[in-house]
Amino acid sequence: MRNQAGGRHGMLLCLSAGVCSSACSGIQSALAPAGRDAEQIADLFWWMAAGAGIVWLAVIALGMYAVLGPARPHSQRGSRRLIVIGGIVVPTLVLAVLLLYGLALMPRILSLPAGDGVKIAVSGEQWWWRVRYLRPDGRWIDSANEIRLPVNHRTELVLDSPDVIHSLWIPSLAGKMDMIPGRVTRLAVEPTRTGRFRGQCAEFCGASHAFMAFYVEVMEPEAFDAWLEAQAQPAEGPPDAASVRGESAFGRSGCGACHTVRGTHANGTVGPDLTHVGSRLSIGAGILPNEPDDLRRWLRETTALKPGVHMPAFGMLPPGDVEALAAYLKGLR
Ligand code: CUA
Repeated sequence: MRNQAGGRHGMLLCLSAGVCSSACSGIQSALAPAGRDAEQIADLFWWMAAGAGIVWLAVIALGMYAVLGPARPHSQRGSRRLIVIGGIVVPTLVLAVLLLYGLALMPRILSLPAGDGVKIAVSGEQWWWRVRYLRPDGRWIDSANEIRLPVNHRTELVLDSPDVIHSLWIPSLAGKMDMIPGRVTRLAVEPTRTGRFRGQCAEFCGASHAFMAFYVEVMEPEAFDAWLEAQAQPAEGPPDAASVRGESAFGRSGCGACHTVRGTHANGTVGPDLTHVGSRLSIGAGILPNEPDDLRRWLRETTALKPGVHMPAFGMLPPGDVEALAAYLKGLR
């Protein structure tokens, strides 16, 4: 029996250590901050966890004393004092300190960048992210399903949604912010180190809410400027025969009614802008790697991979066309 119980305890310990090590690190953890705001939120979490731990220990100690301590009569006055101090004074003090600490963080977290840097408008769609960069010269550059940011710059994200409520959350960089139809909300992010992080929609928004993710690439400012300049350019012509066939399949299959490829006749705005889709970090809004195999799978099994998605699956196309389409899309860099 004792061995069994010991084994169970060992398993529990392993499990909690495993949960903590996977939740406290990685590219999508509020406890492994890589942004100014996330650092402050993580600090707040640890202070609250410590406060809660102390209160819990005190309550357990009192409980143990009540059960195991010497049985002796208590005066009415002493009992009342314990209730007033332990039930009113201490909780009020602890909660007041945590509330003041939390309130003091808010102006910093809610502050938007002054100056004329790039702004990024992100719109929550079902179930993908429309991402548009507004340059200081007033030019808009369309992209989708990933956000690139310059390191050590405070960047304003302007958020909205055309239909249902979403919530944008990049745990490593900042808190979450709702995207509400008919309203514009704003969130500032200020990454402190370069790298790749993961964001996720954090508000139930329909069948494929769980499949609404994205990657954030934090870059050196010069690399970011160069990348944005490249994104502003129209698509280059198809580089090889397979891509030429893919481009014509793209036109024949009506893809351009929903997608834009700048520099071609495709100018739909229902779905993601595909001008530079070949260089993106993922496809299907964070659900598949951006590799030819996965592109083919996405084209054939769209509705199975993302239930409820507006894009139909193109499994009816001849395999050669799907192959060529994937080559064409991968070539749009
Ligand atoms: Cu969008 Cu959940």
